[in-house]
Amino acid sequence: MHRLLLAAPFALLATPAHAATGEAVNPWVALAYLVSGVFFILALRGLSSPATSRTGNRFGMIGMLIAVVTTLLTQIPQKTGDLANSYVGPDFASLGEILIAIAIGAIIGVTIARRIAMTAMPELVAAFHSLVGLAAVLVGWAAYLNPGAFGLLVGDGIGAVSKVEMGLGIAIGAITFSGSVIAFAKLSGRMSGSPILLPARHVINLGTLAAIIVFTALFAMAGPSETMPLIIALTVLAFLIGFLLIIPIGGADMPVVVSMLNSYSGWAAAAMGFTLGNTAMIITGALVGSSGAILSYIMCRAMNRSFISVIAGGFGAEDGAGGGEAREARPYKQGSADDAAFMLEQAEKVIIIPGYGMAVAQAQHALREMTDILEEKGVDVKFAIHPVAGRMPGHMNVLLAEASVDYDKVFELEDINSEFAQADVAFIIGANDVVNPAAKTDKSSPIYGMPVFDVDKAKQVFFIKRSMGGVGYAGVDNDVFYMDQTMMLLSDAKKMVEEIVKALD
Ligand code: TAP
Repeated sequence: MHRLLLAAPFALLATPAHAATGEAVNPWVALAYLVSGVFFILALRGLSSPATSRTGNRFGMIGMLIAVVTTLLTQIPQKTGDLANSYVGPDFASLGEILIAIAIGAIIGVTIARRIAMTAMPELVAAFHSLVGLAAVLVGWAAYLNPGAFGLLVGDGIGAVSKVEMGLGIAIGAITFSGSVIAFAKLSGRMSGSPILLPARHVINLGTLAAIIVFTALFAMAGPSETMPLIIALTVLAFLIGFLLIIPIGGADMPVVVSMLNSYSGWAAAAMGFTLGNTAMIITGALVGSSGAILSYIMCRAMNRSFISVIAGGFGAEDGAGGGEAREARPYKQGSADDAAFMLEQAEKVIIIPGYGMAVAQAQHALREMTDILEEKGVDVKFAIHPVAGRMPGHMNVLLAEASVDYDKVFELEDINSEFAQADVAFIIGANDVVNPAAKTDKSSPIYGMPVFDVDKAKQVFFIKRSMGGVGYAGVDNDVFYMDQTMMLLSDAKKMVEEIVKALD
């Protein structure tokens, strides 16, 4: 019975198919890839809201399982009865070797995912993108060196269309790799977050991009004996341009870059899908590519940056973001947990603005407890989330969801900003740049133009941070510290909220 069950999918899927060789596509394979594509779309749909994100994640896992199993099964020649020793294509690894590689990758992935701190997520994402890019380059080169194994041989050479796909996949993959390595180095502090500005960088970048396009075209048109120097040149130049595009970008703009690289990695995978004749890879790559591009666009809008200048590289370079600046000492009011608890109880409407410091302190559970107590006392409590609060998209949403804060109490910037005028208390916990009015008034500020919360309109502002010396990500002073209605609560965020909870009790 088991053997029959195992044999059934093989019988259905065992006809290898490849678009480039003109072989008929096995309808069961096409159906399996279509189903996995539908699961990926459902995954994206689910991931668009915290309430459905877990389900979305599961859909993604199912889709990927279907795609991987289908790909493995379709590549095993029907004649080989012995699964463990059957070979996946002429010069490929055996199924056993592939399963060992999957197991090693899975162990590394699970270990990293379990250990990684939430605050280090952006650099991890950048590191993972670099692997996608490198994989695309390696697959492209493998297909170039052994076209027969990929079904790409037309006569004694590779077809022109396949070479264009291959060139594009390698170029986008190499850009993704070197760009992601630099993004990882900047985000993890291994390299300075300050922009590195080469003279005439835009001319160099444009020239390099033009050269890559020319080499790809020449590669597609060249005869079999002339292609090697061209593919080497385009690979080297693509690695170089990835590096050149990311070094001029300042630390504060890195989130958009990571999302952009995410998009690039998707397009690299889609191009490789064409080379390999794998529909699932084309669908997945296109989904990742377009969703990454949409996310970058949304983030650019949230930070008031131009989308085109991100793609071109070097935007935000002149702003010196990420570096600290000398600040004059100005008078401010400092309060205690008891003061805050007293005023919070009296309030009718409280808006909480969490930021990066809440994530560092892991204060979300204590904050939820404080919210529960205030609501029991009849206070209306809402959470205001800025699109770039924290260090990755959705950072605050994830933490609040982890602490079981109701989704219907969590509002986005544009939905809640007008309510500060009616709020009795704006409770800022570990946020800084996202409430800095300099973004509205100071043209020389690195965050100028970024929409921020109008906390100055609230009757009372509480501002939790550890010391007056610390600055936000952009490294600039914040006038909110010194407003008449602001009371600074200088302490670790979790400790302060726990003390407020105690005082409220
Ligand atoms: P930030 O402006 O970075 O401010 C963080 C604040 O938290 C600081 O005032 C810091 O002051 C305080 N803090 C740090 N640890 C704390 C702790 N244990 N307890 C209490 N306070 C603590 O945060 P934000 O307002 O969330 O702004 C995000 C910034 O990061 C934006 O500039 C954004 O562009 C950038 N960025 C965003 C992303 C994404 S996608 N979200 C990714 C990368 C960068 P002290 O040091 O004095 O405590």
